[in-house]
Amino acid sequence: MAIQWFPGHMNKARKDVAERLKDIDVVIELLDARLPASSANPMLARMAKGKPRLMILNKQDLADPAVTEQWLAWYRARKQTEALGMDAGERAPAQRLIAACRALAPTRGGLEKPLRVLICGIPNVGKSTLINSMSSRKIAKTGNMPGVTKNEQRIILADDFELYDTPGMLWPKIEVEEGGYNLAASGAVGRNAMDEEEVSLELLKYLLVHYRAELAARYKFDVEELDGAQDWQALELIGKRRGAVLSGGRINMQKAAEIVLTDFRDGQTGRITLERPEEWVEWEKRAKIL
Ligand code: G4P
Repeated sequence: MAIQWFPGHMNKARKDVAERLKDIDVVIELLDARLPASSANPMLARMAKGKPRLMILNKQDLADPAVTEQWLAWYRARKQTEALGMDAGERAPAQRLIAACRALAPTRGGLEKPLRVLICGIPNVGKSTLINSMSSRKIAKTGNMPGVTKNEQRIILADDFELYDTPGMLWPKIEVEEGGYNLAASGAVGRNAMDEEEVSLELLKYLLVHYRAELAARYKFDVEELDGAQDWQALELIGKRRGAVLSGGRINMQKAAEIVLTDFRDGQTGRITLERPEEWVEWEKRAKIL
């Protein structure tokens, strides 16, 4: 496996989240729409069991819209669960978010029983960006409030609607190998924790199956040139096309890998999603057997 990911403070975050969850009515989990299942935190799912959940597929501007629809339907089929696609371009995200939470907990609300919502997400999923765009109204750094952990934010989005930012860092937990590669491709895993060439090859393997036309368009190939190409051959072709060539004419595969990963992360390769619900089910099954 190309990912050596040992995030710290997992236990501390777990305890802090468990404590906060006690008086929370709705749990929002922010996911990366390009890799919804991989960017989820399985630990959170277990801890928040029984609570209404809002799954936000964030950065939907980078994801394949048809696949985002599949994921939204997949989450909505769960009990007490709503799902929304969002991105930083949305002008008033708070409105949709509040409405969805209210619908999930209709008995809460009013000044007596304000709706308390916890927002969680692994690093890089866009949580700060979303919170900042919603907090023009009133933002409270509640370090000195009883019962609110230091560094935890409570954001009053409406008079009877309190949004709590997760205390601590909620790291991804890699339980499925493909999920690890997808997290790495998305940029959620630190550079030092992965082999970029291997991650880019896994990414290309997936793109050659699902997004061959996008790949060809980005690197100015005829689609036919990619017919039957293996991941490493595609990486070589891209390296050659982009001038990632060492003396003697060998392809600089590390440089080519960086190009492929950067283009994917910036959305230059197109709107791409790295996992579909039915694929994820298969990958999870396999991970449990191994
Ligand atoms: P976090 O708090 O969950 O760790 O994530 P944060 O908001 O810091 O966002 C991580 C990166 O993702 C940032 O880019 C941010 O601009 C980008 N981002 C957030 N939401 C969206 C979205 O809906 N669509 C797209 N395309 N990008 C989004 P960065 O390169 O780390 O920083 P910068 O470009 O903002 O300087």
